[in-house]
Amino acid sequence: MLMPHLDQAKKRTKNEVLVRNFEMDDKFKKIGVGKTYYVKTYGCQMNVHDSENIKAILEEMGFKENDDMEKSDLILLNTCAIRENAHNKVFGMIGRLKHLKEDRPDIITGVCGCMAQEEVVVDEILNKFKFLDFVFGTHNIDELPNILYEAMHKNKTFIDVKSIEGDIVEDIPVKRDSKYKAWVNIMYGCDKFCTYCIVPYTRGKQRSRRLKDIINEVKSLKDKGYKEVTLLGQNVNAYGKDLNADYDMSDLLEEVAKTNIERVRFVTSHPWDFTDKMIEIIGKYPNIMPYIHLPLQSGSDRILKLMGRRYTKESYLKLFDKIKKIVPNASITTDIIVGFPGETLEDFKETLDVVNKCMYDSAFTFIFSPREGTPAAKMKDDTPLSVKEERLHELNELVNKYALEANQKYLNKIVPVLLEEESDKKGKLAGYTDTMKLVNVKAPKEMLGKIVDVKITDVKTWSMDGEIV
Ligand code: SAH
Ligand code: SF4
Ligand code: F3S
Repeated sequence: MLMPHLDQAKKRTKNEVLVRNFEMDDKFKKIGVGKTYYVKTYGCQMNVHDSENIKAILEEMGFKENDDMEKSDLILLNTCAIRENAHNKVFGMIGRLKHLKEDRPDIITGVCGCMAQEEVVVDEILNKFKFLDFVFGTHNIDELPNILYEAMHKNKTFIDVKSIEGDIVEDIPVKRDSKYKAWVNIMYGCDKFCTYCIVPYTRGKQRSRRLKDIINEVKSLKDKGYKEVTLLGQNVNAYGKDLNADYDMSDLLEEVAKTNIERVRFVTSHPWDFTDKMIEIIGKYPNIMPYIHLPLQSGSDRILKLMGRRYTKESYLKLFDKIKKIVPNASITTDIIVGFPGETLEDFKETLDVVNKCMYDSAFTFIFSPREGTPAAKMKDDTPLSVKEERLHELNELVNKYALEANQKYLNKIVPVLLEEESDKKGKLAGYTDTMKLVNVKAPKEMLGKIVDVKITDVKTWSMDGEIV
């Protein structure tokens, strides 16, 4: 039993990060033969990509994927801890699994991901959901074969959660959801410690992958026919700062662009580390997509300071304008939190002011959710929930207005779209423009995986329709 410890997870040392290769003992290779698995993923792209690794490891153990959770022999929830509602959704699902386990006692059930790194969660599992077979965290996905083996040979919940800074495991197997676009981790963890955020605790210290490992992965994806890579990190602009190396994010972007893979994307950019050189490189290479996710969180300097974001409204707006000047067709999206402890109407108006100035292409908006163990969870918060809900509503109305306006500029224009999957709408394929706009295109299935010129014929707030020209 290795239980999570948030206090331990908070520590940061100068210790060198261990880079090791994935290894799996032959004795695990038959464990899953004849059995099926179902992995349910919550949370961000990083979790989505972790699930791609988890699925591949399970397949190396002999398991086969089953789309029907209720009929699967192994069910694993890869969880997210970012807000209370993510947490509640997972516990709702654990409740469902309990019933399933009563009907089919032979199934194996487990929980992994960011929630597994939280003491409160594991305590609740041990108190109320003893039927679960295993729990592991974000730092030992590569040990899944051994964890499963132990879980299958024990009659109580096997807990194996490491609260360490983390290693880097290269060559971990991966079963990608798409044949055309791929997630590529460039760094793990986060050292920013924004006061509201649980990620630095659940994902450990910032660890950048070596540039050559990333480039090799991108080249091999290109050789396999992938059209698009998205470079992943909580804070990609800080890439390389933890390495004793002479390269940074702008160098990495340039090297990835030079592989000539058709589309390069990256998320998420923290406004703090966004350098001029990065903007220049984005503007210089046509295969770096003109799409930037630039989380604002709040427009009030007072709240930004309490959040520990280390930029001001003015410096954010300056950066925004610089990006728009050098990459004029860039679409820029953001994240905003309303109702941070102590947020006044005046603070909120500052946020609305930034939205009015930036006229974002789109925004993810959230009500502040206190996360146990973070500094903001202890701050005095006397704004009633009803007021926070009103603010969120007002903000969303404004965000939606600008999202529609941004889309309206595309009407009758011709834009490149990577056709990725069959659309919910019959006879159509869905894909994204270079600027990350979702388009439903009338096209036959054979066109999947192609980047085509599409004329936009209709626009809505969250999607567009188009025809191939
Ligand atoms: N690394 C990214 C954010 C990842 S979390 C960045 O720094 O921008 C995604 C978003 O969830 C954040 O941008 C923030 O808007 C929101 N979020 C994080 N913690 C939250 C909390 N405790 N309550 C509400 N929203 C939160
Ligand atoms: Fe969380 Fe801030 Fe790190 Fe983003 S940069 S993951 S918001 S601590
Ligand atoms: Fe959630 Fe963990 Fe991602 S908390 S947002 S899954 S890093």
